[in-house]
Parts: sequence; structure tokens; C-alpha cells
Amino acid sequence: MKSDILTSPLHLVEISRRRVLVPRPLSPHRQVHGVTSTTIRAHVAQAFDIFLKDLLGVVLNRHGRQLGCQGERPLPYSDEFSSPDEYVQSLVHFVTNSEIFQFLCGGVHILDFFTSEPGIFVTAVPPEWQSFLVNCEPMAFMDLLVRDDLASVSSQRGDPGSPPESLLQYVKDIRRLSLQRSFRPNKPKLSVLPRSVALGMKTKKVHEVVHFAGYIDRLSEDIARVSGKELTHLVDFGSGQNYLGRTLASPPYNKHIVAVESKEQNMDGAKNLDILSGLADKEKLVRNKKLYHRILESLDPSERNDEEALKRAAKALGVADEDIATIDLRSRSELQVTYTAEEGKGFIEYVVGRLEHADLRGVISQLRGYENAVKPDDDLRMMAVSIHSCGNLSHYGIRSMVLNPCIHAVAIVGCCYNLLTEKLGPPSYKPPYHRPSLQPVNARVARESARCDPQGFPMSDFFSTYKNDGISFNITARMMACQAPENWTEKESDGFFTRHFYRAVLQKIFLDKGVISRVYHQQDESSVDGETPSPFNSSTNPVVIGSLRKQCYTSFKAYVRGAITKLTTNSEFSQYNQVISERMAAITDEEIAKYEDRYRDRRRELSAIWSLMAFSACVVESLIVTDRWLFLREHSDIVRDCWVETVFDYRESPRNLVVVGIKR
Ligand SMILES: C[S@@+](CC[C@H](N)C(=O)[O-])C[C@H]1O[C@@H](n2cnc3c(N)ncnc32)[C@H](O)[C@@H]1O
Repeated sequence: MKSDILTSPLHLVEISRRRVLVPRPLSPHRQVHGVTSTTIRAHVAQAFDIFLKDLLGVVLNRHGRQLGCQGERPLPYSDEFSSPDEYVQSLVHFVTNSEIFQFLCGGVHILDFFTSEPGIFVTAVPPEWQSFLVNCEPMAFMDLLVRDDLASVSSQRGDPGSPPESLLQYVKDIRRLSLQRSFRPNKPKLSVLPRSVALGMKTKKVHEVVHFAGYIDRLSEDIARVSGKELTHLVDFGSGQNYLGRTLASPPYNKHIVAVESKEQNMDGAKNLDILSGLADKEKLVRNKKLYHRILESLDPSERNDEEALKRAAKALGVADEDIATIDLRSRSELQVTYTAEEGKGFIEYVVGRLEHADLRGVISQLRGYENAVKPDDDLRMMAVSIHSCGNLSHYGIRSMVLNPCIHAVAIVGCCYNLLTEKLGPPSYKPPYHRPSLQPVNARVARESARCDPQGFPMSDFFSTYKNDGISFNITARMMACQAPENWTEKESDGFFTRHFYRAVLQKIFLDKGVISRVYHQQDESSVDGETPSPFNSSTNPVVIGSLRKQCYTSFKAYVRGAITKLTTNSEFSQYNQVISERMAAITDEEIAKYEDRYRDRRRELSAIWSLMAFSACVVESLIVTDRWLFLREHSDIVRDCWVETVFDYRESPRNLVVVGIKR
């Protein structure tokens, strides 16, 4: 669609994929010829809508909205809500009031599933849900949670095969409050990546890069049309192998990329891929090959990349000092990768280092032409972008627009919510889940949580101060928010359930054998005496085993034996070597089989809870993403518009929500 057809009468600038971009609105209080700007805007908006629909055949879909106005649907919430504020209020009300949600999102530590009697399931799951949950096949239960049309599912009293009404209502609530994830792809300029650019990418990455590069390209064009100025750079937060940046720097996009990455080896790998894709050149070596090979051959292969050893070898061969000075003895890996800026072509600059905040002055001072702030950065018009910036890195990307004058827009797809830090410390809940922290007892996790990191979750004032306490999610809740329950296949689900079941039963063996002990959460130690352990007053010391060889998951016996071997022989687990040898070495196969028999029938309890946890955590993810959007909306003096939408197919890449902000 050509923007110039539409520009003048209606202030319309461009139609992007899902929204109509309109310059900044008039203040609602300003009067023009006695009519308030609100009235004018209403007429303009109406005329504008008719114009679009009639003349251009464009129907604004559910996400259609206007840049510059706080538009109709800035978040992909359910149709049941009539405004973003209604959605946010319902979301926060549910999260702070639903005890079953609080239990499922942060209150269950799978390790402790069998360490107290009657156990987490019987203690915390609503009694009327229990018989349905243990009778329902795991995949049929997943269907109920994420796929079935709930309008056609009814609750039949007294029928154990029929879901209880309160469970159905819970499922409806989670679905209603979860941001919608369906994706309508827009045709990107590159529907297939050229081979040289796609090098090293897996299918998932190709999907992400194709769609996000197209999205960023359209967004950049729209911003340039609205503001009348082109963006100069795209800053990729956590560029990894720079797959996105390489695509955007290559034709047809030809963008100028600043790739910020904490790991040097990722950057080195990315530079090699840049050479293969033709975006960079490797420095050419000019040296006397014959002499160089003589020097190399006189050395042990282990020393051949050591420039000093090469010099010593050259000297030993009788090469004169002045000649040694002229031979380039650097190895190929030490050669510089060079990037040449050319008009109309893409360009990449790498900045290696770990970002700890959103202030980009340190990054900008490393850019060509802006070194050490010699040149003022007034001419920089950058957009912060990222696919899967983990943990707080997404916060830095989003906040960068508020902190740095040169960042004019952000488009950030986050991931790894488990790596977020917590601004408000551990969550506190009302009885009956009144464990002081609802956290697994793990010193590092508890310390992290108590650190109250100002860079952490939540970002927005609204969630930080909600009803004074604000909203917190512990690491268990945030880890579950990284799951994709809709994508679980039967085989994958069975794999998860088996692993968790084995681990939970092994924890019970550890407890019985005295490898670990029970920890009471009571502040007052004296009151612990005589108290019956329950999931709400105690837990057990975690033993971090990590994953075992595939073979260990073929039977419970193989699992226990594999865990014992790892914990007694692996030097990384030296703190457990002695205690496991002393307490577990004598365990017989019969004893292991007895434990498995004792808990086998309770496996469904665990699979049902795990499924409910992952399903419920869709609301955790929705709230985390909504928090990022709210943060931008709260900065309306700086932020002209902000929204969230899907940019990937959930089946290909489930962390598919981008948070976009455009500066005034
Ligand atoms: C999940 S990976 C995504 C990489 C890349 N965006 C992609 O989609 O292929 C996140 C990347 O961010 C980098 N990273 C994480 N935290 C960072 C930080 N604070 N500063 C800079 N880079 C960071 C990691 O090293 C990693 O390469």
C-alpha cells in the first residue's frame, strides 16, 4: 500500500501489518473552533475507518490500532475484555486472589512431591478435583487444558470421568487471562533465506529470523515514515551467533547492525559466519611460506599457534632478528575480520561485553565514528531489537528507550524468565499456603530472591506497587512460564513425567536414608517440635543431580543406579561423594523396586500437577509480558505508542510475543 495516497486529509501516514500509524494525537483538552480535540479525533477516526474499509478493503483485525493514540488492542488479550485496563485488572486480581493458581505457580516443588504424607496432591489440590485428575489419561487432560472447546464440555455430578465445575472454571480463567498466541504471518521480503545467510541455523532459528527480520524491516519503514527520519542502526541485545543481525545486514534489508553479546566465542563464531556470508573479509596474510613452514615443522604441534614459540624456533633456525620482525607469525585464528562500510549496503559492528543495565553510553562509545564520545551522538536514531533476550536482558532492551536519547524504538522478544531477577523479593501469600517463601529451600535461589534487584521483575510501577506488596513470582513459577504445554507431544510429556516421578521418588529414598534432612520453614525453631511435616511447613534439602545419560531413564532402577554413580564419582558433585557412598551404596535392587511399587499408583498425581503447573504458567508469562508493556505505557511522556503482538508460530517458537515501543 502506498502511503502517499493517504497522507494529507487524515494525518494518516502508513498502514503497517496490523495497525494504522497516525502522528501524535491532539491533547484531549485542546479546543479547535469550540470543538474539543476528542470530538475531532472521534470523527476523524470514524471517517478514517470507513475510508480504510470501503476504499481500500482493509479490515482492521482484532489487533488493529493506531500508533499515536493509546489504541484499541495493544495486547493480544481475549475478546472477553473490552479494554487493556479491564484485562490488566482482571489479570492482577486473579493472580493475587486465586489460591490454587498461587499454589500451582510457585508453591509446588516437585522434589518434595512424596517427602511428606499425605503429600502435596492430597493436601493442596481441591478435594473435588482429585478423583478426576487421577482417573484422567495425561494426554486427555492436556486436551482439556489447552485444546478442547470448553463450551461443549460439561460437568456431570458424581461422574468421575467428568471434570468438576470448579476445575472447568479454573481452566476457563487461565485460558481467558493468557495472552493469545495465534500468529498470522505477514509475507516477509525473504520467504527463504539465502544459503550463505542461513548457515548454522536450525529450522526454528530460520523461522524466527525470516519472520522477525521482515517484521523489523516493516516497523523501521513505518517509523521512518511517521517521523520523517530513517533509523540509523539496529542494536541487537544478546546477538548470540548474530543470525538475525546477519540477515538484516544482508540484501534486501541492508541494515546497520550493532550486535551486543556477552560471550566472546559467540562473537568469534558470528564473525566467521559473516565471512562465509560475504559481509566481512578475513585479513590476508603475506609471508614467506617456505620459511614459515620450516619454522612450523621444527615445533611440536601444540606450540604452533604460539607466536613467541614460533619466534624462538625461527631464531634457533638461524633467522636474523630483523627478518623475524618482518615475518607475520600470527595463526589464522588471530587474523582480523574486516568490515567495509559501503553506501546502500549493510554493515555489522560487534560490541562484546555483558550488559548490566540499559544505559548504552558504553556501547555507543565503541561504535565507529563515536569512539570515546568524540562525535556527538545526536544523529543516531537507533532501534533496540532482540530475539530471545534472556532474563533481565529484555528489561535492558525495553528500558533502553527511556534511558538513551538515541534509542527511538524497541522490539524485544524475551525468553528464559527463570533468569529474571526479582525486584520485590520472595512472594508472600495468605494461608493456607503460608510457607514463608513458597520457595524451594535452596540457598542460592533464596539469596537471589532476597537481593531485591532494581533491574528485576516487575518493571512497571503498577505491578511493583500493586496493593502495596506488588507482584512477585518465584523461580519455580518463572521456570514453568518457559514451558510450551500446547506443543507437548505424548512422548515428550511422558518423558517429563517419568523424569519428575523418578526424581521425586529418589528424593524420598534420600530422605529415608539420611542423605538429606527435612527443613522446617517455621521462624521459631521451638514450635517445630512435634509438628507433623506437611508441604506447607517443611521441605527437604535439594540435591542437584542434573541430567543423566539417556539409558538411565529406561527404568527406575537404572535411574537410581545412574544417580548414585554420578554423585559418587563425578568431581563436580564432590560435596555429595561421601554421604551418598555411606548412605546409598548398600541399597539393593529389591529395595529400589519396593519404592517404585509404593509410589507407582501416584504417578498420575504428579503428571496432573505438572500439567496444571505448565498450563497455569501461561498466565505468569502473560503477566511478565504485560508488565513490560505497562512499563512503556507508564512512560507516555517519552513513549508515543507501545503494543505486544505475536511474531512467530507458537508451534515453531513458543516465546513468540514481541514488546514494541515507539518514541515520541
Ligand atoms: C537465548 S540467546 C539468543 C541469541 C540470539 N538472539 C538468537 O536468537 O539466536 C541469548 C544471548 O544473549 C547473550 N546475553 C545474555 N545476557 C547478556 C547480557 N547481559 N549482555 C550481553 N549479552 C547477553 C547470551 O550470551 C546469548 O548469546
